[in-house]
Amino acid sequence: MNKVTMLHEGKAKKVWQTDDPDLIIQEFKDDATAFNNKKKGSIADKGVTNNAIASRLFTMLGENGIPTHFVSKLNDRDMLCKKLDIIMVEVVTRNVAAGSLVRRYGFTEGAVLKQPIVELYLKDDDLDDPLMNEAHAVELGLATHEELALLKELAEKINSLLVAWFAERKLRLVDFKLEFGRHKGEIFLGDEISPDTCRFWDAESGEKLDKDRFRLDLGGVEDAYSEVKKRVLEQ
Ligand code: TMP
Ligand code: ASP
Repeated sequence: MNKVTMLHEGKAKKVWQTDDPDLIIQEFKDDATAFNNKKKGSIADKGVTNNAIASRLFTMLGENGIPTHFVSKLNDRDMLCKKLDIIMVEVVTRNVAAGSLVRRYGFTEGAVLKQPIVELYLKDDDLDDPLMNEAHAVELGLATHEELALLKELAEKINSLLVAWFAERKLRLVDFKLEFGRHKGEIFLGDEISPDTCRFWDAESGEKLDKDRFRLDLGGVEDAYSEVKKRVLEQ
Protein backbone atom coordinates (compact mmCIF):
# COMPACT_ATOMS: atom_id res chain seq x y z
CA MET A 1 0.00 0.00 0.00
CA ASN A 2 1.55 3.31 -1.10
CA LYS A 3 1.34 6.87 0.21
CA VAL A 4 0.00 8.86 -2.74
CA THR A 5 -0.76 12.38 -1.47
CA MET A 6 -0.68 13.93 1.99
CA LEU A 7 -4.24 14.78 2.98
CA HIS A 8 -3.47 16.46 6.28
CA GLU A 9 -0.63 17.15 8.66
CA GLY A 10 -1.74 17.27 12.27
CA LYS A 11 0.23 17.91 15.45
CA ALA A 12 1.18 14.26 15.98
CA LYS A 13 0.46 12.55 12.66
CA LYS A 14 0.48 12.91 8.90
CA VAL A 15 -2.46 11.41 7.03
CA TRP A 16 -1.83 10.03 3.54
CA GLN A 17 -4.21 8.97 0.80
CA THR A 18 -3.31 5.53 -0.52
CA ASP A 19 -4.01 4.17 -4.00
CA ASP A 20 -7.22 2.67 -2.59
CA PRO A 21 -9.78 5.50 -2.19
CA ASP A 22 -11.19 3.84 0.95
CA LEU A 23 -7.87 3.57 2.79
CA ILE A 24 -5.47 6.09 4.35
CA ILE A 25 -2.15 5.78 6.15
CA GLN A 26 -1.59 7.48 9.51
CA GLU A 27 2.11 8.28 9.91
CA PHE A 28 3.01 8.80 13.57
CA LYS A 29 5.48 11.65 14.25
CA ASP A 30 7.69 12.37 17.24
CA ASP A 31 6.40 15.96 17.51
CA ALA A 32 4.63 16.77 20.74
CA THR A 33 2.45 19.76 21.52
CA ALA A 34 0.41 20.72 24.53
CA PHE A 35 -2.08 23.41 25.47
CA ASN A 36 -3.16 23.67 21.84
CA ASN A 37 0.28 24.23 20.37
CA LYS A 38 1.45 26.76 22.97
CA LYS A 39 4.06 24.25 24.11
CA LYS A 40 6.03 22.44 21.42
CA GLY A 41 8.69 19.78 21.51
CA SER A 42 9.62 16.33 20.44
CA ILE A 43 9.59 13.02 22.28
CA ALA A 44 12.21 10.55 21.02
CA ASP A 45 10.58 7.59 19.25
CA LYS A 46 7.08 8.69 20.27
CA GLY A 47 5.72 7.92 16.79
CA VAL A 48 7.01 4.36 16.89
CA THR A 49 5.75 3.86 20.43
CA ASN A 50 2.28 5.31 19.83
CA ASN A 51 1.80 3.36 16.60
CA ALA A 52 2.64 0.14 18.43
CA ILE A 53 0.37 0.94 21.39
CA ALA A 54 -2.57 2.17 19.28
CA SER A 55 -2.32 -0.83 16.92
CA ARG A 56 -2.49 -3.24 19.86
CA LEU A 57 -5.41 -1.39 21.44
CA PHE A 58 -7.43 -1.12 18.21
CA THR A 59 -6.90 -4.85 17.66
CA MET A 60 -8.12 -5.65 21.17
CA LEU A 61 -11.15 -3.36 20.82
CA GLY A 62 -11.99 -4.83 17.40
CA GLU A 63 -11.89 -8.32 18.89
CA ASN A 64 -14.40 -7.09 21.44
CA GLY A 65 -16.92 -5.79 18.93
CA ILE A 66 -15.89 -2.12 18.68
CA PRO A 67 -15.88 -0.84 15.08
CA THR A 68 -12.47 0.82 14.55
CA HIS A 69 -10.75 2.30 11.51
CA PHE A 70 -7.68 0.11 12.09
CA VAL A 71 -6.76 -2.19 9.20
CA SER A 72 -3.13 -3.11 9.90
CA LYS A 73 0.20 -1.86 11.21
CA LEU A 74 2.37 -1.45 8.11
CA ASN A 75 5.70 -0.65 9.76
CA ASP A 76 7.14 1.22 12.76
CA ARG A 77 5.44 4.53 12.01
CA ASP A 78 2.63 3.75 9.56
CA MET A 79 -0.86 2.44 10.27
CA LEU A 80 -3.28 1.50 7.48
CA CYS A 81 -6.82 2.66 8.26
CA LYS A 82 -10.25 3.03 6.73
CA LYS A 83 -10.72 6.56 5.44
CA LEU A 84 -13.18 8.31 7.74
CA ASP A 85 -15.13 11.50 7.46
CA ILE A 86 -14.10 12.71 10.92
CA ILE A 87 -16.82 13.98 13.26
CA MET A 88 -15.39 17.22 14.68
CA VAL A 89 -16.18 16.26 18.25
CA GLU A 90 -13.61 15.05 20.79
CA VAL A 91 -15.14 12.57 23.21
CA VAL A 92 -13.39 12.55 26.60
CA THR A 93 -14.19 9.87 29.17
CA ARG A 94 -13.04 10.23 32.78
CA ASN A 95 -12.79 7.74 35.63
CA VAL A 96 -10.64 9.78 38.02
CA ALA A 97 -10.41 13.56 38.42
CA ALA A 98 -7.40 15.12 36.69
CA GLY A 99 -6.50 17.86 34.22
CA SER A 100 -9.25 20.21 33.14
CA LEU A 101 -11.82 18.53 35.41
CA VAL A 102 -9.73 19.67 38.39
CA ARG A 103 -9.13 23.14 36.93
CA ARG A 104 -12.72 23.72 35.81
CA TYR A 105 -14.76 22.30 38.69
CA GLY A 106 -12.37 22.16 41.65
CA PHE A 107 -12.25 18.38 42.05
CA THR A 108 -9.24 17.05 43.94
CA GLU A 109 -6.80 15.35 41.59
CA GLY A 110 -7.12 11.60 42.07
CA ALA A 111 -10.73 11.66 43.31
CA VAL A 112 -12.46 8.56 41.98
CA LEU A 113 -15.65 9.49 40.11
CA LYS A 114 -18.83 7.70 41.19
CA GLN A 115 -19.44 6.86 37.56
CA PRO A 116 -17.50 7.67 34.40
CA ILE A 117 -18.13 11.13 32.97
CA VAL A 118 -18.30 11.50 29.18
CA GLU A 119 -17.68 15.01 27.83
CA LEU A 120 -17.84 16.51 24.33
CA TYR A 121 -15.37 19.09 23.04
CA LEU A 122 -15.49 20.96 19.74
CA LYS A 123 -12.49 19.89 17.66
CA ASP A 124 -11.34 23.36 16.62
CA ASP A 125 -7.84 24.56 17.48
CA ASP A 126 -8.68 28.21 16.65
CA LEU A 127 -11.38 28.13 19.35
CA ASP A 128 -9.18 26.13 21.79
CA ASP A 129 -11.38 23.00 21.63
CA PRO A 130 -14.18 24.32 23.89
CA LEU A 131 -16.29 22.02 26.07
CA MET A 132 -19.79 21.71 24.62
CA ASN A 133 -23.00 19.78 25.08
CA GLU A 134 -25.06 17.70 22.69
CA ALA A 135 -27.29 20.62 21.69
CA HIS A 136 -24.25 22.65 20.64
CA ALA A 137 -22.94 19.75 18.54
CA VAL A 138 -26.31 19.25 16.84
CA GLU A 139 -26.80 22.99 16.28
CA LEU A 140 -23.34 23.20 14.72
CA GLY A 141 -24.36 20.40 12.35
CA LEU A 142 -21.54 18.15 13.54
CA ALA A 143 -23.68 15.10 14.30
CA THR A 144 -27.26 14.03 14.93
CA HIS A 145 -28.69 13.22 18.36
CA GLU A 146 -28.71 9.55 17.35
CA GLU A 147 -25.05 9.66 16.35
CA LEU A 148 -24.09 11.42 19.59
CA ALA A 149 -25.98 8.81 21.61
CA LEU A 150 -23.98 6.12 19.76
CA LEU A 151 -20.68 7.94 20.45
CA LYS A 152 -21.50 8.05 24.16
CA GLU A 153 -22.47 4.38 24.20
CA LEU A 154 -19.27 3.44 22.36
CA ALA A 155 -17.14 5.62 24.66
CA GLU A 156 -18.62 3.91 27.74
CA LYS A 157 -18.11 0.44 26.28
CA ILE A 158 -14.54 1.27 25.21
CA ASN A 159 -13.89 2.67 28.69
CA SER A 160 -15.01 -0.56 30.35
CA LEU A 161 -12.83 -2.65 28.03
CA LEU A 162 -9.78 -0.41 28.44
CA VAL A 163 -10.05 -0.03 32.22
CA ALA A 164 -10.07 -3.81 32.70
CA TRP A 165 -7.34 -4.41 30.10
CA PHE A 166 -5.00 -1.80 31.59
CA ALA A 167 -5.68 -2.96 35.14
CA GLU A 168 -4.19 -6.33 34.16
CA ARG A 169 -1.08 -4.40 33.15
CA LYS A 170 -0.96 -2.50 36.44
CA LEU A 171 -2.02 0.76 34.80
CA ARG A 172 -4.87 2.94 35.97
CA LEU A 173 -6.80 4.55 33.11
CA VAL A 174 -7.61 8.01 34.50
CA ASP A 175 -9.15 9.55 31.37
CA PHE A 176 -8.81 9.54 27.60
CA LYS A 177 -9.95 11.22 24.39
CA LEU A 178 -11.53 9.50 21.38
CA GLU A 179 -12.42 10.64 17.89
CA PHE A 180 -14.94 9.00 15.61
CA GLY A 181 -15.82 9.23 11.92
CA ARG A 182 -18.17 7.98 9.26
CA HIS A 183 -17.30 5.44 6.57
CA LYS A 184 -19.91 4.10 4.15
CA GLY A 185 -22.77 5.08 6.44
CA GLU A 186 -21.30 3.51 9.59
CA ILE A 187 -19.51 5.06 12.57
CA PHE A 188 -15.98 3.92 13.42
CA LEU A 189 -13.50 4.78 16.15
CA GLY A 190 -10.63 6.73 14.54
CA ASP A 191 -7.42 8.61 15.36
CA GLU A 192 -5.28 6.90 18.03
CA ILE A 193 -5.28 5.72 21.62
CA SER A 194 -1.88 6.30 23.22
CA PRO A 195 -0.11 8.08 26.08
CA ASP A 196 -0.72 11.28 24.03
CA THR A 197 -4.48 10.87 24.34
CA CYS A 198 -4.87 9.07 27.68
CA ARG A 199 -3.79 9.58 31.27
CA PHE A 200 -2.20 6.45 32.75
CA TRP A 201 -1.07 6.21 36.36
CA ASP A 202 0.99 3.31 37.65
CA ALA A 203 -1.45 1.21 39.70
CA GLU A 204 0.92 0.89 42.64
CA SER A 205 3.03 4.05 42.80
CA GLY A 206 0.55 6.43 41.13
CA GLU A 207 3.37 7.70 38.91
CA LYS A 208 2.15 9.54 35.81
CA LEU A 209 3.05 7.57 32.66
CA ASP A 210 1.63 9.75 29.89
CA LYS A 211 1.82 13.12 28.14
CA ASP A 212 1.32 14.97 31.44
CA ARG A 213 5.06 14.38 31.98
CA PHE A 214 5.63 16.59 28.91
CA ARG A 215 2.79 19.05 29.62
CA LEU A 216 3.92 19.63 33.20
CA ASP A 217 7.70 19.35 32.63
CA LEU A 218 8.01 16.37 34.96
CA GLY A 219 10.95 14.80 33.10
CA GLY A 220 11.27 11.12 32.16
CA VAL A 221 8.87 11.50 29.24
CA GLU A 222 10.49 8.92 26.94
CA ASP A 223 10.84 6.42 29.79
CA ALA A 224 7.15 6.77 30.65
CA TYR A 225 6.08 6.15 27.05
CA SER A 226 8.34 3.11 26.74
CA GLU A 227 7.08 1.72 30.04
CA VAL A 228 3.50 1.89 28.74
CA LYS A 229 4.59 0.30 25.44
CA LYS A 230 6.36 -2.50 27.32
CA ARG A 231 3.30 -3.30 29.43
CA VAL A 232 0.94 -3.09 26.44
CA LEU A 233 3.03 -5.32 24.18
CA GLU A 234 4.32 -7.82 26.74
CA GLN A 235 1.03 -9.47 27.51
P1 TMP B 1 -8.09 17.36 29.88
O1 TMP B 1 -8.14 16.96 31.32
O2 TMP B 1 -6.95 18.28 29.55
O3 TMP B 1 -9.42 17.90 29.41
O4 TMP B 1 -7.82 16.04 29.04
C1 TMP B 1 -8.64 14.91 29.15
C2 TMP B 1 -8.05 13.76 28.37
O5 TMP B 1 -8.07 14.02 26.99
C3 TMP B 1 -6.59 13.46 28.71
O6 TMP B 1 -6.43 12.05 28.75
C4 TMP B 1 -5.81 14.02 27.56
C5 TMP B 1 -6.76 13.97 26.42
N1 TMP B 1 -6.63 15.10 25.52
C6 TMP B 1 -6.29 14.89 24.19
O7 TMP B 1 -6.06 13.77 23.76
N2 TMP B 1 -6.20 15.98 23.38
C7 TMP B 1 -6.46 17.23 23.79
O8 TMP B 1 -6.38 18.17 22.99
C8 TMP B 1 -6.81 17.44 25.17
C9 TMP B 1 -7.07 18.81 25.70
C10 TMP B 1 -6.89 16.34 25.99
N1 ASP C 1 -3.18 17.88 21.90
C1 ASP C 1 -3.38 19.21 22.36
C2 ASP C 1 -2.32 20.15 21.84
O1 ASP C 1 -1.46 19.85 21.20
C3 ASP C 1 -3.51 19.37 23.83
C4 ASP C 1 -2.89 18.39 24.77
O2 ASP C 1 -2.76 17.22 24.50
O3 ASP C 1 -2.57 18.84 25.88
O4 ASP C 1 -2.24 21.27 22.01
